[in-house]
Amino acid sequence: MLFYNCFLAVLLAVTITAEQEDLNSHRSSDLTATRLKEVQEQLVQLSDQLNTLNSQMATLMASVANDQERSCTRNPAITDCSEVKEQRSGIYPLKVCSEPPYNVYCNQTFEDGSWMVIYNRFDGPDHTFNQTWEAYRRGFGQPDGEHFIGLQRLHSLTYGRSYEVAFILNRDGQEHVGIYDRFEIDNGRDHFPIRVIGSGRGGLRLFPETTELRRFQTYDRNNLHPLARVTMIEEECGFWFVDMPHGHDSPGFQRFCANLRQLKVMIRKRPNVLSSVQ
Ligand SMILES: *[C@@H]1O[C@H](CO)[C@@H](O)[C@H](O)[C@H]1NC(C)=O
Ligand SMILES: *[C@@H]1O[C@H](CO)[C@@H](O)[C@H](O)[C@H]1NC(C)=O
Repeated sequence: MLFYNCFLAVLLAVTITAEQEDLNSHRSSDLTATRLKEVQEQLVQLSDQLNTLNSQMATLMASVANDQERSCTRNPAITDCSEVKEQRSGIYPLKVCSEPPYNVYCNQTFEDGSWMVIYNRFDGPDHTFNQTWEAYRRGFGQPDGEHFIGLQRLHSLTYGRSYEVAFILNRDGQEHVGIYDRFEIDNGRDHFPIRVIGSGRGGLRLFPETTELRRFQTYDRNNLHPLARVTMIEEECGFWFVDMPHGHDSPGFQRFCANLRQLKVMIRKRPNVLSSVQ
């Protein structure tokens, strides 16, 4: 309002000066009176318009505030899918450390729910997963489509809390499931390796029991043996691989990435181990 008042005062001053000059040159008081009246009427009109604008602005601000409130409360921010009330699968804003919220999909139907989808690939042979190291580090895609949550986030999540992991692979028209009761990703300095993988159940054995470190490898950044590196470039995805001179695949996989075309990976927070022991 202060702005508008100043604006009116300046307008008035300018008009009065102009009117005085008019007066000097024509010395016609009749004309001046008419012009002053016109100016007065214009000012009244202007002030009406300002009032209208003000009330429109107030309405607009109120509706914006309303929208913000609605989008915040639609699905409240979570730090894990176990915080989702009811059996409502869907997209929730996830808070990891001090990062801005990041949308994730919570699956509430698989094995009693509380699963967070961290990797989902289902569209077949496209290049969505042929991404650089930086893209895998940050994450890509949309939570209700093909996507990866990002290595940095995955490290922050699994480092702070204890998680289990489920790999669900559709291959040759059949669903194969592998669930490991521990899953932890270490930090980026050492290629975000799988630091802990628990004992597995289910038919799918993506990670046979081995003590070798599985680091995350992409075509543009990997520390594989030169022979394995060549095959890595021919792949079209990044993943956790063991470095072996003859290749990096898990047993039973010809070309690893090609076999991952319909893979979903989900993690679930394990019950608080300390409190159940006490
Ligand atoms: C949860 O995941 C399972 C296993 O992939 C799937 O069959 C089910 O449709 C998913 N549920 C929802 C609601 O997305
Ligand atoms: C993956 O992307 C890189 C860089 O864009 C490209 O050079 C390479 O040919 C792609 N690989 C496949 C298998 O499409």
